[in-house]
Amino acid sequence: MTQKIASAPEKISGRAMQRCIAKSCGGTYGLAERIYVCPRCSGPLEIEVRLGTATEAAGLRNLWKSRAVSDSAQDRSGVWRFRELLPFSEGAPIVTLFEGNTPLYDAPRCAEYAGLEWLRLKHQGCNPTGSFKDTGMTAAVTQAVLLGARTAVCASTGNTAASLAAYSARAGLQCAILVPRGQITAAKLAQSMDYGAVVCEIDGNFDDCMRLIQEIGDDPSIYVANSINPFRIEGQKTVAFEMMEQLHWRVPDHVVVPGGNLGNSTALGKGFGELLALGLIDRMPKLSVVQAEGAAPFARLFAEMEARHSHGQADLPDDMITEPHPKTLATAIKIGAPVSWKKSLREVLRSGGRVIAVNEQEIADAKAMTGREGIGCEPASATTVAGIRKLVAAGHMRPAESVVAVLTGHVLKDPDYVSNYHRGTLSLGGDASGTGAAQTITGAFRNTPKRVAANKTAILDLLRPRT
Ligand code: F0G
Repeated sequence: MTQKIASAPEKISGRAMQRCIAKSCGGTYGLAERIYVCPRCSGPLEIEVRLGTATEAAGLRNLWKSRAVSDSAQDRSGVWRFRELLPFSEGAPIVTLFEGNTPLYDAPRCAEYAGLEWLRLKHQGCNPTGSFKDTGMTAAVTQAVLLGARTAVCASTGNTAASLAAYSARAGLQCAILVPRGQITAAKLAQSMDYGAVVCEIDGNFDDCMRLIQEIGDDPSIYVANSINPFRIEGQKTVAFEMMEQLHWRVPDHVVVPGGNLGNSTALGKGFGELLALGLIDRMPKLSVVQAEGAAPFARLFAEMEARHSHGQADLPDDMITEPHPKTLATAIKIGAPVSWKKSLREVLRSGGRVIAVNEQEIADAKAMTGREGIGCEPASATTVAGIRKLVAAGHMRPAESVVAVLTGHVLKDPDYVSNYHRGTLSLGGDASGTGAAQTITGAFRNTPKRVAANKTAILDLLRPRT
């Protein structure tokens, strides 16, 4: 049977460019320039895709939907099936592991826990390497191949590294990852080793790794794949498109994401912004970012701006006070100097969202709640459910509003954390910097394994309903 495919609107590829987001600069650069910040003013770069007209855009929904039944590699990828809005030309040598196409789950228990009637969880942990990074990495590694890079590198708290290692392996590129020694989970490190990356364990924290990456990125053989790289953001923005498709194009009131280096919030804001500009949605969801209390420079900045009543678009600050000793058991977001804070702040403000922080106990319990849904996630992802609960309690979200939380990583990314929570042995010790005393986390939803005698009666006795 031949499938009738809706005709493609005019391609935007070839009409895209890199642009500095600093208002005082606005420098523009071609897509083939291997740059990560503005060469003129060192400001952050983004890709500007010249969007087609509303008439052209009208065909996109059907076109994207029709690809669900195609078996070409481009159409099967949940990123490349949205290629009309990606800055690559038709025929680009795409590097894909069939990322994206992740589930949007109804989550009634988490909704009740948070005080909402309606909560959905978009599980980006269902990507090929178990985290949301894959949607960005397919684009960044494709760009690395196009530019003829020899080695792809990144600094990472674990997930970016695992993802880059996998995509580089697919592309036949050398990959080097810089990770803070002893501060990333065994599962994430194991992935990077298995995918053949050169694993550099650095004596320092993530922010030290990030600084080193910016230094070695000058070498012409190197391609930097951190989210400072605007092509990463292009891949990750497609999550907004996929989410809207799954919601039948009805815009939720709120979308909530965890905040670390702040690439993901940037990407989602950009994705929703493009859909709005194209007329495919009629308003922006409020985009909120949740950080862990011990690694929350962005939440602190937002609170200060709010106290000064300066959270209008015109008042974007030039600086943010960083956190020299970030501390959290959610190691994925243990970041004190997030590189993409300016881009992320712009997206949060323009959508009318907020930035808040949640504590370790709140993260741990919210994480266990996602487990009780039969879904689960890694600790960093659970900041969303914890944050939503806090926003509802503070009256910033109303119980009847529709909310989507983006879960960024799979539950098996940090099995030690999960096991310690349920066995009652989870604690945040004083770290190498010597700051703070050890803090024990109570497993409020603890589910400790039971030691049972090897006989039928003992097992049935354990399972008998109790009053
Ligand atoms: N959730 C998970 C599971 C992550 O791995 C990260 C970031 C975030 C949330 C925060 O996203 O940085 O875009 O604000 N992990 C990076 C890494 C830093 O190296 O894997 P962000």
